[in-house]
Amino acid sequence: MADVEANRSTWRRYDWTGDGGEEWSSAWGGSRMLWRVTLFPRLAPFLPAARILEIAPGGGRVTAFLVDECEHLDLVDISETALDSCRSRFGDRSHVRYHLGDGASLDFIEDGSIDLAISWDSLVHADAPAVEGYVRALGKKLKPGGTAILHHSNLAACRLPDGRYGADMDRPENGWRSPTVSAELARRFCADHGVLCLGQEIFPWSRPPVLSDCLTVLSRPTKRTRAAEPVIAQTDMPGEMATASRLARIYRRIE
Ligand SMILES: C[S@@+](CC[C@H](N)C(=O)[O-])C[C@H]1O[C@@H](n2cnc3c(N)ncnc32)[C@H](O)[C@@H]1O
Repeated sequence: MADVEANRSTWRRYDWTGDGGEEWSSAWGGSRMLWRVTLFPRLAPFLPAARILEIAPGGGRVTAFLVDECEHLDLVDISETALDSCRSRFGDRSHVRYHLGDGASLDFIEDGSIDLAISWDSLVHADAPAVEGYVRALGKKLKPGGTAILHHSNLAACRLPDGRYGADMDRPENGWRSPTVSAELARRFCADHGVLCLGQEIFPWSRPPVLSDCLTVLSRPTKRTRAAEPVIAQTDMPGEMATASRLARIYRRIE
């Protein structure tokens, strides 16, 4: 099960008091390298942005970098404990707003207000109704021309002939990817809800060669936007993590 209730009960109980999710950055050699090598190159075309929405910030691992890239930052999560962790981390930053969401809608955000929405390493655990809900909501909440980058599961495309999913990645101990979401389904959600899918990266995460993950880049079209086919590419996230971690060990200041 990877529905909203299962996610809420898991992430409400998570201990954010430790490193606030920094522990998930060790494959990159730390969160700074995750930002510099993986996230910033993808977000750079859209930064700085007046208004950023982060969906599912958890303990604020990515938020820590987004917070200086915008005038307004909205955070929405389904876990109160995650939001509390963000409040204690960013409480002195008056341009940050915190929203406890229902896991699929963004009703508390003004229509047409968001320049950039990002969700990283969270919706991979979310089932299709949540991903569809956010795509539908982003069709209203993004400014025309605004962009969203959503990291979600592709495990529905990794079904084996025996009915199991690649490397059993639907199990919590193996990455807990949702078996109900795929890149293809996300493209269909975009088409159904009037947003343009610009492109998708499909990649393995912890169990290569299983292509368990996808980053979908979507945009709310303006009146002048001409529809085009999305660019779909397979990329090498584990290789990127390994490179980042090697660089972190070589290029470092001495104590
Ligand atoms: C693995 S943590 C990752 C947090 C953060 N993005 C990071 O990279 O450190 C997953 C977070 O996603 C949140 N989450 C899961 N499903 C969600 C949904 N449908 N809507 C909003 N938040 C969700 C959880 O409450 C949790 O805070």
